[in-house]
Amino acid sequence: MTQETLAAIADRYGTPTYVYDLDQIRAQYTKFASAFDWPKLKVCYAMKANYNRDVLATLKDMGSGIDAVSPGDIAMAQALGFDTKDVIYTANNITDAEMHEIAATGVLMNIGSLSRLERYAKAYPGTRVCLRINPDVVDGAHDKIKTGGDLTKFGILTEDVDKVTAIVHSAGLKVVGLHEHTGSGLQKADSVLRAMRRIMEIATRENFPDLEFLDFGGGFKVDYMPEEAPINIEKMGREITDLFRQFCSAYGRELGLWFEPGKYLTARAGSLLVLVNTIKQNRGRTICGTDSGFPQLIRPMFYDAWHRIDNISNPGGAPGVYDICGNICETGDLFAAERTMPEIREGDLLAIRDAGAYCYAMGGTYNLRPMPAEVVMEQNTFRLSRKRLTPADLVALILKESGSVNGQQDLTALDGRPDAA
Ligand code: LLP
Repeated sequence: MTQETLAAIADRYGTPTYVYDLDQIRAQYTKFASAFDWPKLKVCYAMKANYNRDVLATLKDMGSGIDAVSPGDIAMAQALGFDTKDVIYTANNITDAEMHEIAATGVLMNIGSLSRLERYAKAYPGTRVCLRINPDVVDGAHDKIKTGGDLTKFGILTEDVDKVTAIVHSAGLKVVGLHEHTGSGLQKADSVLRAMRRIMEIATRENFPDLEFLDFGGGFKVDYMPEEAPINIEKMGREITDLFRQFCSAYGRELGLWFEPGKYLTARAGSLLVLVNTIKQNRGRTICGTDSGFPQLIRPMFYDAWHRIDNISNPGGAPGVYDICGNICETGDLFAAERTMPEIREGDLLAIRDAGAYCYAMGGTYNLRPMPAEVVMEQNTFRLSRKRLTPADLVALILKESGSVNGQQDLTALDGRPDAA
């Protein structure tokens, strides 16, 4: 994405606007998939990272499946034509109603608690199921996104696997997959291998005659910070495939090797374009105010995440140090603190980089500011993918959802009756 293109996009669609480079996503998918020399490789993109329809359609064309975590995810995957057999459902803490809703779609359920497995077994004996095991490997870029170990809510603990086997056998469930996900942004090169060994031990020890695949989740790191080294996916891919090959030959069957990358596939392809509207000198700090905010890109505030920021309008400006803030009435509304940047002036366009994963997708309309537009680029052309609502559109939507008709609230438009006090 050249600076001229980003400036042209901002010119055409205004700001704030997310831009996704679909060619970059294609290249990243190819890089990932070709790192594993395994005929039964399956990549199920973790669509929680970015559910933009063009991003999903691009990954579908590349041959990707989907890791879904809500009925909404499944509905979106179905609407875009993903094959049911290419979708895996890894939600946690679901209701019985949700379980039945998903079972009716035919999507394979990945179950991560004994309680849910018992209820599933009772309702759907003899059916296919995947089991999510807690790998007891603790890793991830931030405490909030480590999913292994006993301090997290995810997966069946290894010591409970005996109980699982009892439920499975008594209900005649077909365990077709075993799954683990260690965390997001894995920091240690051997975490995946250690987690794989745990799952492979269980596969070897327990008798799951219908086993078709092992799913080792996502978590492949993106180097957000300048001093961070990128992961060597080719080397990781070789090590993982070698280990899996040894396992399969000992196991006696060539199983599927599944992964669920999210941020590795889409983070780098995205930028959020924001416009600088206010520069303020605050006793030695230079505050740079923009027209977006943390509800539109929450990672810095939520995970202390670092995103590169480029000054598109003044790339060669003299360096200065800036607090780059949003327009939300909260002190923590910062995209970057004390960031050294080429001089920022009022009216400049900034691009917040590596914003293609867990940015728009985690967004909301706090302070009643509509979410940014989304624009996609491919082969040097760009187009609008999702529009930015006007504040009036947003308010009209909320009032409609509140049963508002001509300024009055019509409860019959909701559920027809007020709740008893
Ligand atoms: N599979 C499962 C079961 C997951 O829970 C996740 C992410 C993934 C795959 C994909 O992980 P990835 O490859 O994207 O690291 N909002 C956080 C990340 C949360 C990840 C949650 N689960 C962030 O912005 O860093």
